[in-house]
Amino acid sequence: MRQSRRKAPRPTTVLRREVLTITVPVALAALLAAAGPASAGTGGAPGAGDPYFPLAGNGGYHVEHYGLTLRYDPTSRHLDGTAVLTARATQHLTRFDLDLNGLKVTGLTVDHVKADHRRDGQELVVTPRRALHKGEEFRVTVTYSGTPKPVTDPDGSLDGWIPTDDGAFVAGEPQGAMTWFPANNHPKDKSSYDITVTVPVGHSAVSNGVLVGQRTAQGRTTFHWRQREPMAAYLATATVGKFKVEQYTTRDGIRVYNAVDPREASEAAPVLKKLPSVLEWESKLFGPYPFRAAGSIVDHAPDVGYALETQSRPLYDSAPDLSTLVHENAHQWFGDSVSLTSWKDIWLNEGFATYAEWLYSEQHGGDSAQKTFDALYARPASDDLWAFPPGDPGSGENIFGTPVYARGAMALHELRTAVGDRTFFDILRAWAGEHRYGHGTTAQFVRLAERQSGKNLDRLFTTWLYAPGKPNNP
Ligand code: TRP
Ligand code: ZN
Repeated sequence: MRQSRRKAPRPTTVLRREVLTITVPVALAALLAAAGPASAGTGGAPGAGDPYFPLAGNGGYHVEHYGLTLRYDPTSRHLDGTAVLTARATQHLTRFDLDLNGLKVTGLTVDHVKADHRRDGQELVVTPRRALHKGEEFRVTVTYSGTPKPVTDPDGSLDGWIPTDDGAFVAGEPQGAMTWFPANNHPKDKSSYDITVTVPVGHSAVSNGVLVGQRTAQGRTTFHWRQREPMAAYLATATVGKFKVEQYTTRDGIRVYNAVDPREASEAAPVLKKLPSVLEWESKLFGPYPFRAAGSIVDHAPDVGYALETQSRPLYDSAPDLSTLVHENAHQWFGDSVSLTSWKDIWLNEGFATYAEWLYSEQHGGDSAQKTFDALYARPASDDLWAFPPGDPGSGENIFGTPVYARGAMALHELRTAVGDRTFFDILRAWAGEHRYGHGTTAQFVRLAERQSGKNLDRLFTTWLYAPGKPNNP
């Protein structure tokens, strides 16, 4: 059995002067996490092996389904939860981890039998009474409660369960899912979800997928949401607030649910009205919309500072503008249906969603993508845009940086220029189609682009994704 990270040997004196920069413990944890099953004996690894977030996710099992039953009181900010995870062991397991940050675990069973568990930072370490064998399906039930607190990301932004004046803005990218439910918290693992939330009457709890039940009794309303298509934990939400709700079905049969904070309603209305036409336009470009449900959650959360592509129902911290609506919904194809295997590949999400904005503008009477590209390219070599290459942001601190969004989109524009429109849009549709509900890596995207175009694109991608500094002569 390997030691817990807490007991891991201290860095040697040679390394000690670097300890303050935190790079050493992180790198060590990464090594341990990456060592995974090989060195873990029959314990599941504490991380999924992500170099930027070494403790995110876990090894040794896959979660097939999360059944979350929550009760939230916006006044006291108290959350009570029961999480029932249906999982499958991918190795013999005497022990496995879940990710959970804060909160108090009040009960834990594996296959209905009480299991030993302890907390170790964000790891909830579970030792079932009996070992699980490889391939076996098992059920973990965790009861928990407390006041959820968001996590602070390496870039200083908050994510997870973020209280607002009338509820909570719940956005988990990249790490925050574990602030409100025990999770295998890495996009490598995708699952279906049933999320049931009880809130005081007058409040709404809005989550992913289809609303399959709503009922009010004894001063409380319970909302039951079902997300059938596979979803990464960071894309789950259970945003609570006082919302105006609108529901309809599109011509394509997609169930739309919009929840809007009344303070944002007049500004949001003209943009939300365009959602069906944006989804139709994106479906023409990227292939069929991947989910049976769609919509928007427009909260009033002035301290958050970002929107998130929560699956099937993007979450906005205020009334979005049209290009933000286009961006978050483009993520439904690129990021949500096709997921990352490593946060390092984040340009596959943000570069694509940003390029969707450029294309929307180009095809709706605004600037052409070429013009947007040229304006960015004109920025001096000292500009933040060139601070690091989008295919290799270097650390979790940079995953939402300008180069990931803008230079990521520029890389796609260069690809389009090199292969021509017809092939370029075939590539986008093939990417969304072949990896639908699954995962993709940068290397796979490059291979697909080369296959579809019959061109060697090595230099193009090396230049735009990996070369440091401003590329010359595009
Ligand atoms: N992925 C979001 C987008 O659509 C941005 C985002 C999510 C973000 N979480 C964040 C940005 C945390 C900064 C910090 O672009
Ligand atoms: Zn984005």
